[in-house]
Amino acid sequence: MAKDILDVTGNLERLSYRDVFSRSEYDVIRKSIGALKPDFKEITEKNVSITIGGARKELIVRAAILKTAQREYQGVVITIDDITDIKRMQQIMAWGEVARKVAHEIKNPLTPINLSAQRLKKKFFGQISDEAQVFEECVETIISEVEIIRQLVDEFYRFARMPETKREEGDIADLGKQILGNYRELYPDIDFTFTVSGEVPKLNFDLAKLKRVFVNLLENSLWAVKQNESEAKVYLSVEHDRDGGVVKVMVEDNGIGVSDEDHERIFDLYYSRKEGGKGLGLSIVKAIIDEHGGKVYSDKGIEKGARIIFELPA
Ligand SMILES: Nc1ncnc2c1ncn2[C@@H]1O[C@H](COP(=O)(O)OP(=O)(O)OP(=O)(O)O)[C@@H](O)[C@H]1O
Ligand SMILES: [Mg+2]
Repeated sequence: MAKDILDVTGNLERLSYRDVFSRSEYDVIRKSIGALKPDFKEITEKNVSITIGGARKELIVRAAILKTAQREYQGVVITIDDITDIKRMQQIMAWGEVARKVAHEIKNPLTPINLSAQRLKKKFFGQISDEAQVFEECVETIISEVEIIRQLVDEFYRFARMPETKREEGDIADLGKQILGNYRELYPDIDFTFTVSGEVPKLNFDLAKLKRVFVNLLENSLWAVKQNESEAKVYLSVEHDRDGGVVKVMVEDNGIGVSDEDHERIFDLYYSRKEGGKGLGLSIVKAIIDEHGGKVYSDKGIEKGARIIFELPA
């Protein structure tokens, strides 16, 4: 029903379309109907995306002028189809295509990276006396992480879909802390803060995928804080919301922030305001969190900067 799609209440009979679509979020619909010429015989069709009650909807609005046999104007017939879900399906299907392309591009440099690391190990391991252990650990990390990427990419490539989820019990706060720790070392100019409130229960999740969630969110924050002059701050906090039955993870920064109309859009595939950005990061985050039965959103209440929150059932 159009009423349900549009969240309009009350009796609509015999109302002018201007009254039905009086709210500002319906501007696009009102204008496209208003643009109909009185002598227009065809049905006009327009794809519009509007935000109703915080949720973005993709609609097809069709309108036609209705006339009597004497060609007197009687009114407008408007039909509205909600194609939000169809659009999302199309995006998911488009994903396969992107996955293949990205996989191909990622795979190329992996072999030389792996070989170089092996060579470093072979050539220098015996010669380094100072901090030999650090050297070995670093090289081993490169080799093993490259192997993880290779497996991931292979799976992506073969099935053009996300790899199977392999869930195990783990500590999400610990994972976040670990990853943030790595970033802290890499970016000494940025002030990273980690907080965990109270006891956080163990959850069942796919470790490799949740790592990607954290990395994507932190990469976005790094970019966001770089766009600002002020001292860069990134916060990661984890808490157990007992009433809500979820563990909440928040990644917050004092960067350029997300504009009002972007809170929903940033999770769309290919949506990016970044130079050279692919708009993949948050779509991947959303797909992973969906898979885990959770939800992810951008907090509209934040005053400065951005706060992306994901919740996992606990
Ligand atoms: N922390 C943030 N602060 C401000 N804007 C953000 C933040 N995170 C995401 N965004 C906005 O959301 C857009 C989409 O993010 P997403 O991670 O999906 O893609 P991307 O970062 O542009 O590209 P990719 O992740 O594929 O390299 C970004 O281009 C940016 O405009
Ligand atoms: Mg990103």
